[in-house]
Amino acid sequence: MSRRSQVLEALTAAGEKGLSGETLAGELGVSRVAVAKHVAALRESGYVIDAAPRRGYLLRSVPDLPLPEQVEPLVADPFWVRFEGGPVTESTNEDAKRLARGGTPEGTVVVAGSQTGGKGRLGRSWDSPEGGVYLSIVLRPSLAPAEIVSLPLVISVGVARGLEALGCRPLLKWPNDVWLAGPLEAAPPAGKVSGILLEMQAEADCVEWVVAGVGINVRPAEETPAGVAHVFDHVEPCSTSSVAAAVLTGISSAYREFRTSGFEALLPEYERRNMLTGREVTVREMDGSVRARGAVDSVDPLGRLVLASGSGMLAVSSGDVTLREPDA
Ligand code: BTN
Repeated sequence: MSRRSQVLEALTAAGEKGLSGETLAGELGVSRVAVAKHVAALRESGYVIDAAPRRGYLLRSVPDLPLPEQVEPLVADPFWVRFEGGPVTESTNEDAKRLARGGTPEGTVVVAGSQTGGKGRLGRSWDSPEGGVYLSIVLRPSLAPAEIVSLPLVISVGVARGLEALGCRPLLKWPNDVWLAGPLEAAPPAGKVSGILLEMQAEADCVEWVVAGVGINVRPAEETPAGVAHVFDHVEPCSTSSVAAAVLTGISSAYREFRTSGFEALLPEYERRNMLTGREVTVREMDGSVRARGAVDSVDPLGRLVLASGSGMLAVSSGDVTLREPDA
């Protein structure tokens, strides 16, 4: 566990009794100056920590933000090896890419409470106010670039597992959007709860690193646009750090299965959650031009969307899917 997480854990355990800088330094095997620096950094992130004579440091309040030192102790899977981030950043994907280029190991996480320049798929921006979870992870899969098509779907299965563990009913919209089901079995889906953006560095025959960024709408905003869903509209609110931890746990379980048995092992689960099956859709290119139209048949073992179109079965490996209204 990082020193920052250890300091927070010790202050939380000490409660009203407080903890002197000297005792804390002794327990952690660091200098008192180092302890003071961690306390200053925690205050900077929004923790209220009093320093009282004789009692030492007293933790008065903890911000409800997905912060690395809160998320780390909630994540049991040893796959996750490094936690970075803070209350606000421009884009966790940019931060994670910087770390990936610098050689950070697989299993590195960057998590933030808001983003000033959140990036979405297809060059769009991703609205990232406080009340959401914004995280990016570094993966180093030994795959050829062509084999990577199914990886975004693997991450979406992981996000869905995490949200389900919290009590939500997640659905998947190819390639990698996560939606929440409506209140009743027959009701239309409530809206998109999470988006995933993959960026990578690859040579001709091997992937060096992948950064997968996940944005999750957690606390409902004052005005929710149509087609958007929030976790806390569907389950009892918990801390945003618990949401981040549940999603990371889901992602590492799905990614582990993918690495040992391939996407095929996850396909039945993807299909069970697939909200497009049987629906008429339009798949568009990045520039908005229509790539394919048809009724969704399935997702194939390579992660492609299979459509029954006028000219027969068609498998598409990328694009933006919109549901088509029945012809008037
Ligand atoms: C989409 O368009 O659906 C994908 C949205 C991905 C947003 C996440 S938020 C965390 C990470 N950092 C970013 O700048 N983008 C991704």
